[in-house]
Amino acid sequence: MNKTGKLYAIGVGPGAGDLMTLRSLRLMQSLDVIAIPEKNKGQADSFAWAIAQQELDTESMRGEALYLWFPMTRDVSITVPAWEAAAEALVSRLQAGLDVGFITEGDPSVFSTWAYLQEELAERLPNLQVEVVPAVSSITAVPAATTIPLADGEERFCVVPATYGIEMLPRLIEEFDTLILIKAGRMVKPLIEMLEPMGLLHCATYVSHATGENQQVYRDLREVPEEHRYFAMVQLSIRGRKGILRRGQQ
Ligand SMILES: C[S@@+](CC[C@H](N)C(=O)[O-])C[C@H]1O[C@@H](n2cnc3c(N)ncnc32)[C@H](O)[C@@H]1O
Repeated sequence: MNKTGKLYAIGVGPGAGDLMTLRSLRLMQSLDVIAIPEKNKGQADSFAWAIAQQELDTESMRGEALYLWFPMTRDVSITVPAWEAAAEALVSRLQAGLDVGFITEGDPSVFSTWAYLQEELAERLPNLQVEVVPAVSSITAVPAATTIPLADGEERFCVVPATYGIEMLPRLIEEFDTLILIKAGRMVKPLIEMLEPMGLLHCATYVSHATGENQQVYRDLREVPEEHRYFAMVQLSIRGRKGILRRGQQ
């Protein structure tokens, strides 16, 4: 009987091909199967794969490129069967002794379908060997684009999905020096409405496609054009308030 293959979660970074790690590239070149998440069934429209292909020589890849459909909807009658089919496709290959790499945009541990897949596969193959290959995440790519550090000294930062509960922001603003609002593309208007009366609009910077060729940075949320409100984060930086240097001067 074949030994079960090993499963890798491979982060490919936030957009720029040359920000991929050597380890990610080497694994994509050499594994038996590279599993690629696609948004629309049969469309091969994978952002992660587009990033990988900037540096990966796909002609000389050893393995199979396997597209897995992860629909972009919250309708469980669509997502559950699709995600189960994706898990089964991987199980059959792993059981055949093949080593599989599942690629993710950014880092696999940060808001990625990988979290779901890992749970599903652990249920089906309890002794499965797993390795997570970390990568540059949007959480650090965005501050690189704004050139505003996340935190220093005694400062604290947090990461929250903007699409779920921006009513939490006033409380978080009290507690943290920097807030990273992930999935902020469609939340620009409600964010302006919340931050303007608080006098904090000038602390917000909007970044889409950080490090990619089409990177956009807006230091005034009111200037973000509708068509750019996609694949974006807002960095809310209120750091000067209690940074360590200021404390030292008190
Ligand atoms: C499903 S999450 C994936 C996060 C990814 N695993 C990571 O480590 O960055 C997708 C969200 O991350 C943010 N994001 C990812 N890459 C980005 C980039 N290059 N520039 C700006 N935001 C990005 C956007 O808010 C996007 O809606």
